[in-house]
Amino acid sequence: MNKTEYLNRLDEQKKIQELMKGDKYTLNFHLIPPSGWLNDPNGLCQFNGVNHIYYQYTPFNATWGMKLWGHYTTKDWITYKEYEPFIFSDIEDDRDGVYSGSAFIKNNEFYFYYTGNVKHTDKKYDYISAGREQNTILIKSKDGFTYKEKKTLLKNIDYPKNMSCHVRDPQIFEKNDNYYMVLGARDLDDVGCILIYQSKDLENWDYHMTLTTPEKFGYMWECPNIIEISGQTFLICCPQGVEQQGIDYANIYQCGYFPLELDLEKKEYKFGDFIELDRGFDIYAPQTFLDENNRRILIGWMGIPDADYTNQPTIDKGWQHALTLPRELKANGKKIYQLPLEEYKKLRGEVQKTLDCSAKNVELNFEFTTCKNFNLTLRDSISLTYDGYIFTLDLEKCGFGRKIRSVKLKNLIDIQIFLDNSSIEIFLNSGEKVFTSRCYSKNLEANPKFYGEYTLNDFKWYELKKFEILK
Ligand code: FRU
Repeated sequence: MNKTEYLNRLDEQKKIQELMKGDKYTLNFHLIPPSGWLNDPNGLCQFNGVNHIYYQYTPFNATWGMKLWGHYTTKDWITYKEYEPFIFSDIEDDRDGVYSGSAFIKNNEFYFYYTGNVKHTDKKYDYISAGREQNTILIKSKDGFTYKEKKTLLKNIDYPKNMSCHVRDPQIFEKNDNYYMVLGARDLDDVGCILIYQSKDLENWDYHMTLTTPEKFGYMWECPNIIEISGQTFLICCPQGVEQQGIDYANIYQCGYFPLELDLEKKEYKFGDFIELDRGFDIYAPQTFLDENNRRILIGWMGIPDADYTNQPTIDKGWQHALTLPRELKANGKKIYQLPLEEYKKLRGEVQKTLDCSAKNVELNFEFTTCKNFNLTLRDSISLTYDGYIFTLDLEKCGFGRKIRSVKLKNLIDIQIFLDNSSIEIFLNSGEKVFTSRCYSKNLEANPKFYGEYTLNDFKWYELKKFEILK
C-alpha cells in the first residue's frame, strides 16, 4: 500500500473510528492503532526531546494484512501525537510489507533499518527455503517524518548460504568504533539464530558472525536486540518452536533474553540460560532504546502471533492489539528487572488506602511484610493466586481463550497491578517477574477481593487518567 492508496481509503478509517468510539475495550493509557491492526513496536528512539514510536500497522484490517510503519510521538509519555504512517510499501523490495526494524541516531540524523518483505507468487513455494525475499533497507531522515530515498543494503544473497528466506528485524549498536547490525534468522536446518554484520559507515555491511545456542532452541528467532545494562550484555529475542516445559514456555512463541558473553573482535560468545521476559499471554517483539537520559526503555507488542485466542471482541469494532506500558530495564546480575516508566505517575489521581475500589482504570500496590498465600480477584473475572511457591494468573472467565499462566516465586514482597479497559500488567517484586495480558471482563470496575495468610505493610491504589492523543 503506497501513500496514495492509503489516502484514498481514509473514509474507511473514519468509519472504523466511529465503531471504536463505542467500544468499552479501547484502552485509555496504552497505545492502540488509530484503526485496524498493530503489532511490533519499531524504530524506537528519542531525538531532541521527542520520543518516536513507530509500529507495524495495517490501517484498514483488524486481522493482519499489508504492513506499514505507523507513527506516534511523545515528549512526556502522557500526551501523544498521532501522525500518518511513516513508511509505506512502495518499492519492489518492500512490495509485500514494510516489516520490523529499528532506528539509530548518528550526527543528528536518523538511520532507519527495516525488512522489506517480498513474497513471490509465480509458482508454489514453501516460503521458508524459497519464494520469499527479506531485504534489509535503509532510510535516512533529518526529522523522523520525511525522507528522500530507500536504499537496499542486503538481499537474500548477502546472507550466509545456510540461511532460509527468514532473515529480518535489523537492530544496530555501536561498539569500539564499529557498528553492528543484528538480524533474527532461521537456518536451512530449522535452527533459530542471530546474524551479526559489521560496518564502519552505517551503509556498507559485512557479515561478521552467527550466534546460536549449543543446543537448538527453536527454529526461528525474531526481533533481536543486543543491549548492555550495567555492564552485562543481553540478547533479547523471540524464539519460535520451543516446546512447553511444565509452567515454562507456555505461549506459542517465546519472548525473553539470554545473558550473553560476547567478544566481537575474537568472534567468541557464550550464552547463559534463556529467561522469559514476561509470563503473561500477550507479549512479543519487544524493542528497547536508550533515551536522552540514558534510560534503557522497553516497549513490547501486547499481543502474540498465531495464538488460538478466539474471537477477540475488539475485532468486530475494527481494531486489534496494543503496545505495553513503556518500561525501564535494570540489571540485577544476569537478570533483567522491568518497571513501568516513572512518567505514568502523572496519570495518578488521589492516593486511596481502602480496598473499596470501583474505578475501572487503576494502579493497585500491595506491599507485604509477610506473605504465605493469597487469592485476589479483580473485576469478578480475573484471579491472581499465590501459594508460597507459585504465582498464578487465571483468566478463564474473561480471556477469550487465555487460561492460566504461572511462575515459580519463593518470596513475594510486592505486587503492582495496572488495569486498563482490556489489559492487565502485573509487576512482582519490583519488576523481577511481569505478567502482561489482554482480558475482556463484562464488568470493568476493579472491585478487588483479597484473602489469605499475609500481613500488609502498605496497600494503596490510584485511579489512572487517560492518555491525551493529539491528531
Ligand atoms: C514479529 C514479526 C517480525 C516481522 C513483523 C511483521 O511479530 O513477525 O519478525 O518483521 O512481525 O509484521
